[in-house]
Amino acid sequence: MYSNFKEQAIDTSRPTLKYEKNPKIKEAITQKFTEYLRRAEEIRAVLDEGGPGPAANGGDAAVAARPKTKPKDGGEGGDGEEGKLRAGLNSAIIREKPNIKWNDVAGLESAKQALQEAVILPVKFPQFFVGKRKPWRAFLLYGPPGTGKSYLAKAVATEADSTFFSISSSDLVSKWMGESEKLVSNLFQMARDSAPSIIFIDEIDSLCGQRGEGNESEASRRIKTEVLVQMQGVGHNDDKVLVLAATNTPYALDQAIRRRFDKRIYIPLPDLKARQHMFKVHLGDTPNNLTESDFENLARRTEGFSGSDISVCVKDVLFEPVRKTQDAMYFIRTDDDTWMPCGSKQPGAVQTTMQDLDAKGLASKIIPPPISKMDFDKVLARQRPTVSKADLDVHERFTKEFGEEG
Ligand SMILES: Nc1ncnc2c1ncn2[C@@H]1O[C@H](COP(=O)(O)OP(=O)(O)OP(=O)(O)O)[C@@H](O)[C@H]1O
Ligand SMILES: [Mg+2]
Repeated sequence: MYSNFKEQAIDTSRPTLKYEKNPKIKEAITQKFTEYLRRAEEIRAVLDEGGPGPAANGGDAAVAARPKTKPKDGGEGGDGEEGKLRAGLNSAIIREKPNIKWNDVAGLESAKQALQEAVILPVKFPQFFVGKRKPWRAFLLYGPPGTGKSYLAKAVATEADSTFFSISSSDLVSKWMGESEKLVSNLFQMARDSAPSIIFIDEIDSLCGQRGEGNESEASRRIKTEVLVQMQGVGHNDDKVLVLAATNTPYALDQAIRRRFDKRIYIPLPDLKARQHMFKVHLGDTPNNLTESDFENLARRTEGFSGSDISVCVKDVLFEPVRKTQDAMYFIRTDDDTWMPCGSKQPGAVQTTMQDLDAKGLASKIIPPPISKMDFDKVLARQRPTVSKADLDVHERFTKEFGEEG
């Protein structure tokens, strides 16, 4: 072992200096090292003293340097460490509602209803939950990619009056040995402290895959065990903490974790009615001249599309009018003094382009045409569904074995 910084640093830098041919670079490296060493030794001197440094400035340096060293367990350090872990988890609390309403989520009626039962009722009508009637504790949403699992969770965050923790594996995996489990237990403790609360773990398979597989690391096994213990909730009053998780590979989940979820809901591809609603939701109030039967026709033509496929398709369609305006050779002046692209045969059509109108100072008067069914035809001709039949089979098999239809 090295007895001081200097020895270690010199040893580390030796290979670099040995293989570096350019004398200028060699000199620069040496200079940088000397500077780092001087700073490291200054910091060590301050830390060794334990108190604020000798100079007025030294005090600041001590405060700044301290968080970099890990405090030892036990004693006073415990509190500080917990505080720090919690500060890290604070960023997982969603304070701003994502503004996605139940109604923005197309279809998935029974999933929505079950979630409402789980998150709205216990908070609003706690008197309903008497005797053996307990609120649901853990929900697993599974299904093919792009069917609205994360989207549904956003709706829950918007509509529920609970503290919402949105957790991904990067929040819980720490480089420090043993700290990951502490992060997990702190997370659950924080959720209990600020109850009623919801812990949402997206892509839970990345955190809680099957145990005992060869490539599993020690750290991930410990995280899983801690999640198991915390979800079991022995000795805790967990009535007001709901765990919500989503995955698109339910079979990859650890079986003990799977059992902890008392409700497992299949989020399938949208049906005809849901697709029709989705087209409307994603178009929103963008000017368009689609009729009800046009929407129905679109829904019929997009069998097998996921919610995400449809949202990508509509995003593309939204730009069609802009593309049309850029390419237009004829414009028409409308009643409210704006310019809109039109066909050459339309009465009143003026031969001009967007650039010409802009040059005349009319840029702010150019309005793209409303979205038409033809725009959809054009985009749908080049769109394919992203979920394969094999993907679906896996989920349907899982539903038969362990799940329930959403
Ligand atoms: N039921 C739905 N209603 C409205 N929009 C939807 C629906 N499902 C999906 N979408 C749209 O698709 C996008 C992607 O959905 P989301 O991120 O929820 O997929 P996911 O199921 O979480 O997929 P993954 O398993 O890949 O994480 C959403 O942002 C939304 O715009
Ligand atoms: Mg998702």
